[in-house]
Amino acid sequence: MTADTMPASHTAAIAQLQAHQREQKWSLRDLFETSPDRADRFCSNAAGIYLDYSKNHLREDTLSLLLDYAESCGLQQQIEALLSGANVNNTEHRPALHTALRFQGTPSTEHERAVAECREQMRRFTREVHSGNWRGYTGEPIHHVVNIGIGGSDLGPRMVVEALRPWQKEGITVHFVANIDGADLSDTLAGLPPQNTLFIVASKSFSTLETRENAMSARQWMLDAGCAESQLAQHFVAVSSNIVAAEDFGIAAENIFPMWSWVGGRYSLWSAIGLPIALACGFEAYEQLLAGGHAMDQHFATAPMEQNLPVLMALIHFWYRQCWDTTSQVVLPYAQRLAKFPAWLQQLDMESLGKSVDREGQPLHYPSGSVIWGTEGSNGQHSFHQLLHQGTDMIPADFIAIREPTSELAGQHRWLLSCCISQSQALLRGKSLHEARRELEEQGYTHREAHALAPHKAVPGNRPSNTLVVERLDPRHLGALLALYEHKVFTGGCLLGINPFDQWGVELGKLLGAEVHAAIGGKAPGDWDGSSKKLLELLF
Ligand code: F6P
Repeated sequence: MTADTMPASHTAAIAQLQAHQREQKWSLRDLFETSPDRADRFCSNAAGIYLDYSKNHLREDTLSLLLDYAESCGLQQQIEALLSGANVNNTEHRPALHTALRFQGTPSTEHERAVAECREQMRRFTREVHSGNWRGYTGEPIHHVVNIGIGGSDLGPRMVVEALRPWQKEGITVHFVANIDGADLSDTLAGLPPQNTLFIVASKSFSTLETRENAMSARQWMLDAGCAESQLAQHFVAVSSNIVAAEDFGIAAENIFPMWSWVGGRYSLWSAIGLPIALACGFEAYEQLLAGGHAMDQHFATAPMEQNLPVLMALIHFWYRQCWDTTSQVVLPYAQRLAKFPAWLQQLDMESLGKSVDREGQPLHYPSGSVIWGTEGSNGQHSFHQLLHQGTDMIPADFIAIREPTSELAGQHRWLLSCCISQSQALLRGKSLHEARRELEEQGYTHREAHALAPHKAVPGNRPSNTLVVERLDPRHLGALLALYEHKVFTGGCLLGINPFDQWGVELGKLLGAEVHAAIGGKAPGDWDGSSKKLLELLF
């Protein structure tokens, strides 16, 4: 079966997996009791990242059914198509070559040559700013960089800059502004010295509402501070594929860093969209990030499917979504500096897999993307983990642990990792009614009291999770981790038979937003629903 014919037989293959699921009578506890060496068999590693997927509802026969399914989807061919630059984004007739952004060595394709040139431009610019040669309108060097962008032009660099805090260069602070809510920009600019501030207008399209409005307001802020129109070029650079629009805004041609149609917004942190990373953490750190991403690309391209980290993670997710009726997946990085990782992953996964038709436009007869959510551990334990442990839904979890301490407080790191292990353990093990009753009786409760209280204390357990162990939180390992999830999401798209590289759903909201804005102060068009009409009256 090829990718083109896949959806016709998808339903049958999924039905086979569902039948296998119904036959399963074992619990996760049983699996570990009957097979204590499970953790040695259900694991894999690559590029300094170790995946333990033994705490999942699967045995070798489950995995082999899932791998058969991947083969029947033509997964290997689809991976080759992605990496070779075929038009995998079939609704927009273009490739998705984010892997070319992190190529290593000598450029060998037209895309890689363009990337090499752009990297050189970034390197020169970063050096100019760091050395103090780049001057603002008063002749002073730059100390603050404000990245104005949203979605993929914000979330990736914002998350990486926070994750790599120990790499941050002295003398430069990088800020991020995304929201159309003016409070975002004005709170960020409050207290910043205009003469030492540089703006990056990061927008692939250079037409996104939020970025356009924030950039215009920032421009005005500079003018109000005394910067002349002719000096604005010293304070604004852009990253965009829309050179004309960036120039119209007033950005000098030599200060526009290219973007290409073959890079999707949510896959773009490796391009010049990563300029804030280079400015905040240094160009070497940015290059190491690329190298880590490339190492994961190599693994994805060459590792056998049964050891391939992104493939295994996508198959496990697919298994729960299709056969266990799960609707969400939680991601729990046990690292304060990865606090923004779930937000980055949300766009990557939900914008890619939130589709209702297959690659040919036929309605899907099975569920597609899940709700992705989460927060940094151990904070989540004291808010939503209650629902993970005792709620009625099974929510598969990805735990991310960093082996080396990320601060000098090594004792706290041992606690952090203990929390991480204990949470996946608690999800797996739970506490039976019988165990809860016995525990209460041991604490001195009467038989009757223990009976009444035990249902509240029992924890269902049998809830699955993956644990990723990342060797250390440095640029290289972070790059590998991000590329791992990118390839997991791509593989998810292949298994679902959908195009993970478009996002047409976002467009309707954008169009209606402009229509509502145009109606302010006037009369709402007659075809509007009553609620929207009333809200327009109430709000304006
Ligand atoms: O929200 C839709 C979207 O197109 C994202 O895919 C993209 O990352 C974001 O808007 C920003 O787009 P741009 O970089 O063109 O401003």
